[in-house]
Amino acid sequence: MKLKDKVVVVTGATSGIGEACARVFGKNGAKIWITGRSQIKLDNTLLRLQNEGITCAGIVCDAADESQNQLMVKGAVERFGRIDMLINNAGISMRAMFQDMDLEVFHKVMNTNFMGAVYATKFCLPEILKNKGTIIAMSSINGFRGTPARTAYTASKYAMNGFFESLRTEVMKSGVHVLVACPGFTASNIRNNALTADGSIQQESPRDEEKMMTPEEVAKAIYKAALKRKRDLILTRQGKLASFLNKWMPGIMDTIVYNHMAKEKDSPFK
Ligand SMILES: NC(=O)c1ccc[n+]([C@@H]2O[C@H](COP(=O)([O-])OP(=O)(O)OC[C@H]3O[C@@H](n4cnc5c(N)ncnc54)[C@H](OP(=O)(O)O)[C@@H]3O)[C@@H](O)[C@H]2O)c1
Repeated sequence: MKLKDKVVVVTGATSGIGEACARVFGKNGAKIWITGRSQIKLDNTLLRLQNEGITCAGIVCDAADESQNQLMVKGAVERFGRIDMLINNAGISMRAMFQDMDLEVFHKVMNTNFMGAVYATKFCLPEILKNKGTIIAMSSINGFRGTPARTAYTASKYAMNGFFESLRTEVMKSGVHVLVACPGFTASNIRNNALTADGSIQQESPRDEEKMMTPEEVAKAIYKAALKRKRDLILTRQGKLASFLNKWMPGIMDTIVYNHMAKEKDSPFK
């Protein structure tokens, strides 16, 4: 019970990595405050977690909405009295060629993934400074390596990496810990819910989800990194290799990444 009496806020915790983080941090004693856009999904998730003995509550909050984030943080403090940790997890993806893409899709991805993390962090920061707590950014391998037909998603994750590196350095003398977690491909709903060029939902994942890391494995690795107050976490063998190769051979990586992504089912480029 390493997190006994600590309060952890997890944004976008009604599925995938967010729900798994809520479960892992909750099973280790933390009180969990979760968010998502749908009341029904939120209630069902809370029920699942409560049935496993986890103390949790939550609120409907669209990550992309500044005032909803303010109310979300106020709600957490009213309910549990404090905030020790924020996991900025809420996120959506997209798949479309930039030339074909409605700019609304770009705004939606940036506003959810990047501005969502900025808003939640802004309103949680006074509590986290007071408690010398932890802020976790759920970035991606796309936070340091772009992939074709994922311009908005990649941009949102690069923006997160830059923002949190800057913030980490800014608060380095305050006792606050900032972890940037970069999962590789993880089996979840992210690709089913990804936006296409016109903003409609992709529905079907173009990749074999069976071969990916599970959200539970990701959540456990993040939990360990949070306890050790690590700076960065890069997951999957493929992710670690991409990070190494991109640093030393970025030009060759352009070709490797292009060829790899072109093999995806229904790829918009060949
Ligand atoms: N899966 C991967 O391969 C992978 C790899 C690297 C990084 N990541 C990152 O991990 C995070 C979680 O993704 P996942 O793979 O677990 O996907 P997921 O299963 O689709 O879960 C996404 C979560 O975010 C919530 N969400 C989406 N838009 C939101 C909004 N505007 N406001 C509040 N909540 C919102 C969803 O809840 P509602 O639908 O209920 O709102 C859901 O709970 C994302 O930031 C993603 O970029 C994923």
